[in-house]
Amino acid sequence: MRFRSLDDADVKGKRVLVRVDLNVPMQDGEVADVSRIARNAPTITELADRGGTVILISHYGRPKGRDPRESLKPVAAAVAHIIGRPIAFAEDCIGEAAESAVAGLQPGEILCLENTRFHVGEESNDAAFARQLARLGDVYVDDAFSVAHRAHASVEAIAHLLPAYAGRAMQEELQALEKALHAPQRPVAAIVGGAKISTKLDLLGNLLTHVDALIIGGGMANTFLAAQGKGVGKSLCENELKATARDILAEAKSLGKEIVLPVDAVVAPKLAAHVASRVVAVDNVDPADMILDIGPRSIEHVVSVLARTRTLVWNGPFGAFEVEPFDNGTIEVAEAAAELTAAGKLVSIAGGGDTMAALNRAGVTGRFTYVSTAGGAFLEWLEGKSLPGVEVLKFSPLPPPRGDES
Ligand code: 3PG
Ligand code: MG
Repeated sequence: MRFRSLDDADVKGKRVLVRVDLNVPMQDGEVADVSRIARNAPTITELADRGGTVILISHYGRPKGRDPRESLKPVAAAVAHIIGRPIAFAEDCIGEAAESAVAGLQPGEILCLENTRFHVGEESNDAAFARQLARLGDVYVDDAFSVAHRAHASVEAIAHLLPAYAGRAMQEELQALEKALHAPQRPVAAIVGGAKISTKLDLLGNLLTHVDALIIGGGMANTFLAAQGKGVGKSLCENELKATARDILAEAKSLGKEIVLPVDAVVAPKLAAHVASRVVAVDNVDPADMILDIGPRSIEHVVSVLARTRTLVWNGPFGAFEVEPFDNGTIEVAEAAAELTAAGKLVSIAGGGDTMAALNRAGVTGRFTYVSTAGGAFLEWLEGKSLPGVEVLKFSPLPPPRGDES
């Protein structure tokens, strides 16, 4: 796929509107996870160093109108801290407050605008709202893959109004995703975990056409086990989807694809930290027990599949990873994937909110080829859907110079 990157952009002396994703978890007024900010930092500093006037735009949360609890002000302070440079803040993203703040900037300076979702035009991809944003800049840079699934004004409509470029994080993400499914080294395996099949049907369908092996973990594996007639006790299980699970298994078989399901499980009477648990074969789950993680034989099996895989795509943890010790399966497999990657034997690409949290916890994020900070966008991309924020960056003639469009 072809798109313009910062290598193609002339930013010196220009006002550069940079769409970042500052929708980060906050706790007690502080940013609780800076991963997304850290990804955007290189783009921000590069543009400033090249003499651009940098104007950050982002949404935060899902406010209904203006709401001081959803202000970007504390997040802007965290960005300033991470990049080690001052960042000015404008109390609105359009209109007089934004325009005078932008007018006061020198090349190399950085400004963050208030939450775009304080205006209804953002989520409705409103053209007039996009024009008001676009007035503030000469060039548009999108560095927020994690919002690319939203056809919102600061992501989609604005990119039709200004010369649009992918920032460094967006570029890196698109290149990693290309390596994962569009031009991968084979064989390709996917790990799909998480609680429910119902939220991942499109994902499973699309992956079956792309991968050689599909490794199923998490609560959704229980539905597959139940579909094969196994008792899963009190485990999370979507009984109404057993027929669908059987269809998926049949389709995989007809396509000659390998499906990897757990062969043993860590079970306990309830989900609680350090509750007494045991390992049983998946044929022997007691009616009073819940499956909470994959067992050692399953881990070994998954790792043996990875050892003959060249490209891995991973979305969703294996067990109830947020509760110890049921994070063990995810951590062991993550560790093996990280080692194979470090040895140059595997291209490993992972994404999704839970997945990133699990891999951070396993301490392997830096040793994977690429871990996306995107949740919904990563999932929709894995489903084979086209993402509005990516489509709009695809190579096309630059728009003509703007006339007056207030
Ligand atoms: C995310 O955190 O997934 C993105 O920032 C998009 O946010 P949204 O799901 O509220 O649109
Ligand atoms: Mg989301």
